[in-house]
Amino acid sequence: MEENNTPAAMQDNQSVEGQDSQEAQPKKKRGGFTSKIGFVLAAAGSAVGLGNIWRFPYLAAKYGGGIFLLTYIILAVTFGFVLMVAEIALGRKTGMSAINAFKKLNKKWAFLGVLCAIIPIIILPYYSVIGGWVGKYFFTYVSGGGMSAAGDSFFNGFISSPWQPLLFFFIFVSVVFVVVLFGVEKGVEKVSKFLMPALVVLTIGVTIYTLTMPGSAEGIKYYLLPDFKKFSVKTVLAALGQLFYSMSLAMGIMITYGSYMKKQDKIESSVHQIEIFDTGIALLSGLMIIPAAYAFSGGNPETLGQGPGLMFVALPKVFANFGSVGGGILGALFFALVLFAALTSAISLMETVVSIVIDKFHLSRKKSSVIVYVGTLLLGIPSSLGFGVWSAVSVGGMTILDMFDFLSNSILMPIAALLTCVFIGYVVGCRNLTDEIELNGPFKFKKFFNVMIKYVCPICIAAILITSILDVFGVFSI
Ligand code: PHE
Repeated sequence: MEENNTPAAMQDNQSVEGQDSQEAQPKKKRGGFTSKIGFVLAAAGSAVGLGNIWRFPYLAAKYGGGIFLLTYIILAVTFGFVLMVAEIALGRKTGMSAINAFKKLNKKWAFLGVLCAIIPIIILPYYSVIGGWVGKYFFTYVSGGGMSAAGDSFFNGFISSPWQPLLFFFIFVSVVFVVVLFGVEKGVEKVSKFLMPALVVLTIGVTIYTLTMPGSAEGIKYYLLPDFKKFSVKTVLAALGQLFYSMSLAMGIMITYGSYMKKQDKIESSVHQIEIFDTGIALLSGLMIIPAAYAFSGGNPETLGQGPGLMFVALPKVFANFGSVGGGILGALFFALVLFAALTSAISLMETVVSIVIDKFHLSRKKSSVIVYVGTLLLGIPSSLGFGVWSAVSVGGMTILDMFDFLSNSILMPIAALLTCVFIGYVVGCRNLTDEIELNGPFKFKKFFNVMIKYVCPICIAAILITSILDVFGVFSI
C-alpha cells in the first residue's frame, strides 16, 4: 500500500464542528486513504484480532458448535453487512468520528455518539489482559518452555497467579501506548501487511495438522454440523455480540474509518472484502481449535465450555506433538503472529479512545494518550485479578473479565446497533445514506438495506435483548 494514512495515524486532524459545513471540505483537511485497498487493509487490521482467533472459537465451542457457526454466518451476511455499510457511509457522509457524526446530523442524538464512545473504553482494558496472556505464551515458547505450556495446570496456574498476568498486561498496554504516543502505527501496519498473511498461512497449516489428529473427526462434526436442539436465544445473542466485536461494529470505529474514505471508492465492495477476510479467519480459527480441544479431551463439555481459556489450553497440546524443538518454534511463531494481530486491534482501540478524549476535553494528544494509558491500566487490573485473588467476585458464574465482556458485547453493542438503525431509518432517512453509497455506481443491495435497517434489524435486536434481559431476571427461561 502506497501512502498509509490510516485513521489511527490521522486522529490529530480530527475535524471539529463548524469545520464541516460543506461535506467535501473536511475530507481534504483530514487527508484520507489513498486507495481502496488501503482502506480495506486498515479496516481489516482493526477487525482481525483476538476476536477472531481467541473469542470466536471459544464461543462456538460453548454454544453448540455447528449451530453457533450457522447462526453467526447468517447474521454476518445480513446484520453485519448492513451495519458495516451503514457505519462507513455515515462516516464518509459526515466526515466525522462517531462522537460528532450523530450530533452533526441531529443534535438530539448526540447521546448515541457518547454511547458508542463508552464501548471501546470498556473493551480496551480487558482486551489488553488477553493480549498479555498471548504475550506470556509467546515468551514461554521463545524461552524454551513450550512443553510445560502443554501441561494441564499451566494455564490455570498462570492466570490465577497475581503478578505474572498483571506484568504481561502491563507490558502489552505499554507497547500499545508507545505506538500511539509516538504515532508509529504506520510502521506497525506496514509490517502487519506481511505478518497477517503469515498468520493465515500458519493457521491453515496447523488446522490441516489438527484435522489429522486421532479423535478430531468428532470435533469437526461438532463444529460443522448444526444441531438444532442446541439452538436458543442465547446462541443468537452470543453470535450477535461476537459479530459486532469481531467486525469492530457498534462502537463508532467504522464511522471513523469511513470518514477517511475517498468519495470515489466503493463502500459496498469494500465491505464484502473486509467481511470475507474477517469471517474467514474466525471460521478457520474455530476449525483449528475446536477439533484439537475435542481430540485431547474426548469432547468433554467442561473443556469445550470453559470459555476464555480454550485457545491457550488446546493449542500448546497440538504444538507439543511436534516435540520440544519443532513444537517450540511453531508455538513461538504462532503466538508471535497472534500477538501482532492483537496489537494492531488494540492500537486501533486505543487510538479511538484517545481521539474521544481529545474531542471531548480538548486536550493535547500527548496528555490524552497518557490519561488513556493510565486509565486502561487501572481498569484492566480487576479483569486480570478476577482469575486469581479476586475470583470470589462473580455474577452468574461470570468472572470480572467475562462481566466486562458481557456488558460491552451482549448489552451495550446491541443497544448501540439498534439505536443506529433507528437513527438511520427514521431520523436521517435511509435515502441519505444510500445516496452516499451510490455516489459511484449502483448499490446492489439497496432494497435489502432499507428493509433491514428500518424493520428487521431493530425489531430482531430488540427482541433478542428483551428476551435475554427477562432471562437474566428469571422472568422466564430460554
Ligand atoms: N475486532 C477486533 C477483534 O476481533 C477487536 C476490536 C474491537 C478492535 C473494536 C478494535 C475495535 O479482535
